[in-house]
Amino acid sequence: MILHLVGPGPGALAAPEISREISGSGRRVEVILEPGARCFVGPAAFEDPACVVDEPSEFPEAVLCAPATAGILARLARGLDGGSAGARSVFVAPDLDASTAGHPAVEENLALLREDGCEVILGKGEGMAPAGEVVARVLGGLGGPMSGLHLLVTAGGTHEPMDSVRFIGNRSSGKMGLALAREAVRLGARVTVVAANVEAVEPGTETNAVETVEQLRAEVLRRAAEADALVMAAAVSDFTPASPVKEKIRRGEGGLSLELEATADVLSAVRERYPDLFVVGFAATHGDPVADAREKLGSKGVNLVVGNDISREGIGFGADENEVYVVGREGGRFVPRASKKDVARVILDSLLEEMSKERQE
Ligand code: CTP
Repeated sequence: MILHLVGPGPGALAAPEISREISGSGRRVEVILEPGARCFVGPAAFEDPACVVDEPSEFPEAVLCAPATAGILARLARGLDGGSAGARSVFVAPDLDASTAGHPAVEENLALLREDGCEVILGKGEGMAPAGEVVARVLGGLGGPMSGLHLLVTAGGTHEPMDSVRFIGNRSSGKMGLALAREAVRLGARVTVVAANVEAVEPGTETNAVETVEQLRAEVLRRAAEADALVMAAAVSDFTPASPVKEKIRRGEGGLSLELEATADVLSAVRERYPDLFVVGFAATHGDPVADAREKLGSKGVNLVVGNDISREGIGFGADENEVYVVGREGGRFVPRASKKDVARVILDSLLEEMSKERQE
C-alpha cells in the first residue's frame, strides 16, 4: 500500500490525479488529508473517495507527501512524523514559494531528508512539481519491471506542408503511442515522447512536439542517444511535396499536380546511427499483417514489429482499440482485439522479454 499524505498547499488540487495515476499502476493507495488540505480538496474529488482515510489500514510500503509544505518537511526531517518512519521508500514533493524554498532552515531540512534516503521531487519553478512528474518519479522509484529503462516513444502522424495552409497528413490520432508511453510510466520507465501533431501530453513523460518527418527524424536521432529502446508508433509520411510554396496556392482555373518526393526512413537512420539500440517498429497493413511485419523486421533491422490490419473497422487509426501481431526474431504473439491500453501492455511485455533475451545472448 502507498500512503499519500496531502499537505495544505495549492499542490493539493493535483492530489486526486496523483493518487489515480498511482492506483492505475495496480498499487493500492490510501490518502490522508492534513487538516488544512481540506481547504483545497475533499474526499469527493478522489476517484475512490473511500481511499481517503483517517489512519492507514496497514504499514505502508511507501509514503508520498505531495504537496509537502515547509511544516511537513520540518516534521519529516526532524523525526516528528511517525507515519512515514520505517517505510521502505519516502517521496516528498515540496510545494513552496521562492522565498520559503530559499530559507536556510528549509534547505537544511531538505538536505537531511535526502541524507535519510528520501526522494525529493522538486518542480522547475515555484510550487509543486507537475502531477505527472511526481507520478513518474514515484513509480520509477518503486521499482516496476521497467524501472531503470529510458524509453523513447514516437506518437501521432506527420504533416508535410504543401503551402502556408495545407499539408499532407494521415489519420493517426496518437492514441497507441500515448497508451504505450502511459503504460511504460506505470511500469516505472523514464519516458520521452516525440509527438507529431498530437495535442495531448502524457503525464509523467518529457514530450517534444514535432510536425514534419524531417523534424521527427532530427528529434528521434537526438533523443535516441540517451534511450535504451525506441518504440516507433508514429505514422510517418513516406512522401513530401517536392517544392512547398510559402504562400497559399490559389485555386486558379484548372486542377493541381503536386510533385512528391520520398522522405527519409527514420527507422533505418536510427539503426545506422545506433546499431545497439532496441527498436520496435510498426507495420500498418491492409489485410493479414504478419508477412509484412516479418518483412519489415528484416528490411528495417528492428528487434520487434507490431503489425496491425488497418482495413478493419474499429481498430487501429483513431480507434480506442487495436488488434495486433507482435513479431520478433524467433516467433510472434497474436494480441486479440482489446483496448489500446491492454495492447500497449502486451507490447511492452514483449519488449522486456526480447530485451532480456538479447542481453543474455
Ligand atoms: N517509418 C519510418 N520512416 C518513414 C516511414 C515509416 O521510420 N519514412 C516507420 C514507421 O514509424 C513504422 C514503420 O516504419 O514504425 C513502418 O511504417 P509503414 O508506414 O507501415 O511502412 P513503410 O516503411 O512506410 O513501408 P510501406 O509503406 O511500403 O509499407
